[in-house]
Amino acid sequence: MLFRIVLALITVSINAAVWAAPYKLDESHTQVGFKIKHLVISTVSGRFNKFSGSFDFDPAKGEIKDLKVEIEASSIDTTEPDRDKHLKSVDFFDVEKYPKLTFVSAKTVTKANQPTQLEGALTIHGIKKNVTLELDYKGATTDPWGNERIAFEASTKVNRKDFDLKWNKSLDKGGVMIADEVKILIEGEALLQKPAK
Ligand SMILES: *[C@@H]1O[C@H](CO)[C@@H](O)[C@H](O)[C@H]1NC(C)=O
Ligand SMILES: *[C@@H]1O[C@H](CO)[C@@H](O)[C@H](O)[C@H]1NC(C)=O
Repeated sequence: MLFRIVLALITVSINAAVWAAPYKLDESHTQVGFKIKHLVISTVSGRFNKFSGSFDFDPAKGEIKDLKVEIEASSIDTTEPDRDKHLKSVDFFDVEKYPKLTFVSAKTVTKANQPTQLEGALTIHGIKKNVTLELDYKGATTDPWGNERIAFEASTKVNRKDFDLKWNKSLDKGGVMIADEVKILIEGEALLQKPAK
């Protein structure tokens, strides 16, 4: 009897290891970008060059959970050094004081063909807000080196004022220099983590 219970437990833990597998963002094939309207008519895009992230994915059930993303604020890059300096300053991200932006998912979701809504806590500039990520699963593949990869897109829109990123400059002809709404888009790939041998 005891033997059977032990065997059952082993089977359960093996199944767990096989089905709910940990994935890590593949930093060299992932972009963490953002877009914001500038001077009313144009759009500035930028990205964060340093980040890491992980989640658990069960391909059989399509379940996604425990998504965590950590972004280094000082890696912001809008291809204009002066603007990047301003964005890192106390006017905006204040990267000395708030070095990381984070997202931590709150629930387990099951992927659908439509973008899946994943709720979680986004922390920017030291302020934590609940946001919903639109998660679009693009499929899975095994690369030539035998790594299991999945491709995805995750996006959300936030109001920068919610995170106390308030700087603006009025324009003579009306409107503000940069808009309040920021679109965040993470596009890329994640790699299945192989158990340590
Ligand atoms: C944010 O989400 C968490 C987890 O779902 C919940 O417990 C909390 O009440 C939410 N906070 C707000 C301000 O909605
Ligand atoms: C711009 O910023 C100033 C100072 O923080 C604020 O009083 C004003 O309401 C802001 N204007 C807009 C349109 O956001």
